[in-house]
Amino acid sequence: MDTILEMRGIQKSFGAVKALNNVNLRVRQGEIHAICGENGAGKSTLMKILSGVYPHGSYSGDVLYDGQERAFADISDSEAVGIIIIHQELALVPMLSITENIYLGNEQSKRGVIDWQVSRAKAKALLAKVGLSDSPDSPVGTLGIGKQQLIEIAKALSKEVRLLILDEPTASLNEKDSDTLLSLLLELKSRGVTSIIISHKLNEISRVADGITVIRDGSTVDALDCNAESVSEDRIIKAMVGREMSDRYPPRTPNIGDVIFEVKDWRVQHPTQRDRAVIKGVNLEARKGEIVGIAGLMGSGRTEFAMSVFGGTYGQDITGQVRMHGKQVDVSSVQKAIKAGIAYVTEDRKGNGLLLDDNIKRNITLANLIGVSRFGVVDEHEEIKVATDFLKKLRIRAQGVTHVVGNLSGGNQQKVVLSKWLFSEPEVLILDEPTRGIDVGAKYEIYNIINQVVAAGKCVVMISSEMPELLGMCDRVYVMNEGRFVGEFTAEEVSQEKIMRAIMRNGGIENA
Ligand SMILES: Nc1ncnc2c1ncn2[C@@H]1O[C@H](COP(=O)(O)OP(=O)(O)O)[C@@H](O)[C@H]1O
Ligand SMILES: [Mg+2]
Repeated sequence: MDTILEMRGIQKSFGAVKALNNVNLRVRQGEIHAICGENGAGKSTLMKILSGVYPHGSYSGDVLYDGQERAFADISDSEAVGIIIIHQELALVPMLSITENIYLGNEQSKRGVIDWQVSRAKAKALLAKVGLSDSPDSPVGTLGIGKQQLIEIAKALSKEVRLLILDEPTASLNEKDSDTLLSLLLELKSRGVTSIIISHKLNEISRVADGITVIRDGSTVDALDCNAESVSEDRIIKAMVGREMSDRYPPRTPNIGDVIFEVKDWRVQHPTQRDRAVIKGVNLEARKGEIVGIAGLMGSGRTEFAMSVFGGTYGQDITGQVRMHGKQVDVSSVQKAIKAGIAYVTEDRKGNGLLLDDNIKRNITLANLIGVSRFGVVDEHEEIKVATDFLKKLRIRAQGVTHVVGNLSGGNQQKVVLSKWLFSEPEVLILDEPTRGIDVGAKYEIYNIINQVVAAGKCVVMISSEMPELLGMCDRVYVMNEGRFVGEFTAEEVSQEKIMRAIMRNGGIENA
């Protein structure tokens, strides 16, 4: 296969920070090439160099595209030769229609007048190419994040893309949307489009990639040809984190005591459709020192269950009992749930977990302002001290406690969310997809934190769609399907097969 792109000896600094040290990348014509690396490895910076966001002259090293040395001065230079980048942060304008977004900055004009009839028809055809049947007039903001990604790709297709760059496109997508996106990449490949995809998700990479380049600390550390050699996840992980990870889950000797947390006959109705039962009589218990998992397919009711227990933040007509240490507690509001000793770390870090515009210390202390207040006034010194402790303990990589949370990497944001809830000193910590979208190294650190929580005599309830994670971490796993627990296994008994069988036996696949 011919080489379409070669980047040689790329170096790039931001002031004193050396982001790229020595990156080499070779991409073959027509392949899907994955770039892996932990947060901060330099993946996005490399792609910004390739697409001209960082112009020639601001980096050193060579970029060869189509056999020619290139010196892009800006994005339009790279687009002119068919290189299109879709950034980690989507660049669509929510208020504008699909058509307007696709042709923004690329208007279809006739003698200087934008021809919206033509644009609209073309947009419709592009939507069909990415498998969407939405009206080209719909405002982009009304669509889910998965569809917005597809619209970014439609926009790329409107520019006759030859090399498509996707920077962590699936990080915030659910399984189904990720799947659609990957299938589309494969289809584009069959039409001759080359793509570069940045992702942490090894299962996705093994599904689509023909070649993989691993970057660590600004240097290329491994390059693999998936068609010529068998590529093991272990090899990629080892290259990413720079050490052997014989165990992806830190070792722990469980020390399990009495029951702390119990939920009895929990029932919840849908928030707007009152006659629809979402949680149908769930019973759960968690013991001191225990990590309890909840497995299940997307939509099985796991998040709805957790949210309804956490102050009724989901659903209506909630019935059932929550007990702490054998005594019934009131969890009818978030404040009461927190007071009862329950903390819930949400799946959606961006949506519910954090104030992205605010700094680290404020985010950490928010759920427990009393803990840093004297006589009802927030004590700034105490706030800084508490946050600094967490920064150290959880190894949060930031400039300091006043660093704005929105500028942190996903793994570090997740650690801030965890700090926030750990600071409220809960008896039971409910974690919903605690490591989604986080690279392997940061995952390991989060597992360590979870182990510390239970070692301190608390209990953890962990919702996860990654079965290996449940198997690797939990003492006991409940299986949820269609609003019910349909299986329960101890760490010794549990296997992926048993979980899937419990789901299928209960009709989950047909009805999911
Ligand atoms: N605009 C910038 N200014 C200063 N430092 C930056 C900038 N962009 C990236 N960096 C730093 O460069 C390194 C690589 O970042 P990035 O390319 O975003 O990594 P990745 O995409 O692999 O997570 C990090 O240490 C990051 O903090
Ligand atoms: Mg990045």
